[in-house]
Amino acid sequence: MNSIVVQNLVKRYGEVEALRGISFEVARGEVFGLLGPNGAGKTTTIKILTGLTKPTSGRALVAGFDVVEEPMEVKKRIGWVASEVIVDDELTGWENLEIQARLAGVKNWRERAAELLKYFGLSEAANRPLGKYSTGMRKRLEVAMAILHAPEILFMDEPTVGLDVGARVGLWEVVRQINKDFGVTVLLTTHYMEEAEQLCNRIAIINKGVLVATGTPDELKAKYGVDVIELEVDRPVDTAKLAAFGEVAMSNGKVLIKTGNAEEKVAEVVKAVEGIKSVRVKKASLDTVFLNLTGATFEGEQADIKRLYMKVRMARR
Ligand SMILES: Nc1ncnc2c1ncn2[C@@H]1O[C@H](COP(=O)(O)OP(=O)(O)OP(=O)(O)O)[C@@H](O)[C@H]1O
Ligand SMILES: [Mg+2]
Repeated sequence: MNSIVVQNLVKRYGEVEALRGISFEVARGEVFGLLGPNGAGKTTTIKILTGLTKPTSGRALVAGFDVVEEPMEVKKRIGWVASEVIVDDELTGWENLEIQARLAGVKNWRERAAELLKYFGLSEAANRPLGKYSTGMRKRLEVAMAILHAPEILFMDEPTVGLDVGARVGLWEVVRQINKDFGVTVLLTTHYMEEAEQLCNRIAIINKGVLVATGTPDELKAKYGVDVIELEVDRPVDTAKLAAFGEVAMSNGKVLIKTGNAEEKVAEVVKAVEGIKSVRVKKASLDTVFLNLTGATFEGEQADIKRLYMKVRMARR
């Protein structure tokens, strides 16, 4: 059975078409990742699925219930971890859990709250105000709050933003455990390809409100992965000259050449370009899949920023 079914979802905010008819399904027990550049429509999708906003058109079923027709049935069965902070800093961990329990109508919440605090290693911090928690502790408490009412499906919007490496890996473990131990279906968004690869059974990549690919990380790599030759150069490059090797793009001041078999071409590329400071070959990975499907080309902006800097510097003289 599918935990989530999204059919042709459209969301307009005035002029902005945040979602342009996306469709996907998440099977029960999956950890599903939504990836996409800033503004792609990830949070909008989560907001529709959790009932925080209504779609302009299209349909979404969560745990078998239509999110527009039966939002209360949906709410009972889902948990939600927002990307921004929604907890109260002045209240303790325990008090935040209590508020959540009352909002969600959880009976015997004390017992469950104590268990969850233990599970997340927060027992000792239970009576400390959240303002004194580290970011990692706070995130774990937010997850505890989100699963206090034992939801079937957990939504997590960029769950590991701002966490250090240890806390991030720790949270991955938590997500895996929740998924395995409690059988919770997870839909998360992330900007970290490694996170998607580590955690997600399947991934959907959205770009400007359009779903451009769905599959397991391996399927996506096989289908859309490209090798990338990355050049750092100290002077402008005639990109037309490089077109013979593959598709050329600029990103963060580096020249990227998307190509099939980078190792074979790199020597010739190096010969063709002057002023190379460094060369890297990146083999097909989820990063290159993402780059390939969402096309991060910043050439225009780069040039403008340079001009802006020059102007400011001249003015200072
Ligand atoms: N309440 C709103 N009113 C108007 N426009 C909005 C609103 N919320 C989102 N948008 C617009 O909808 C588009 C999708 O936004 P959304 O927040 O879903 O993107 P996202 O994929 O979550 O991006 P990010 O990675 O930056 O979090 C953007 O163009 C955004 O500016
Ligand atoms: Mg977002």
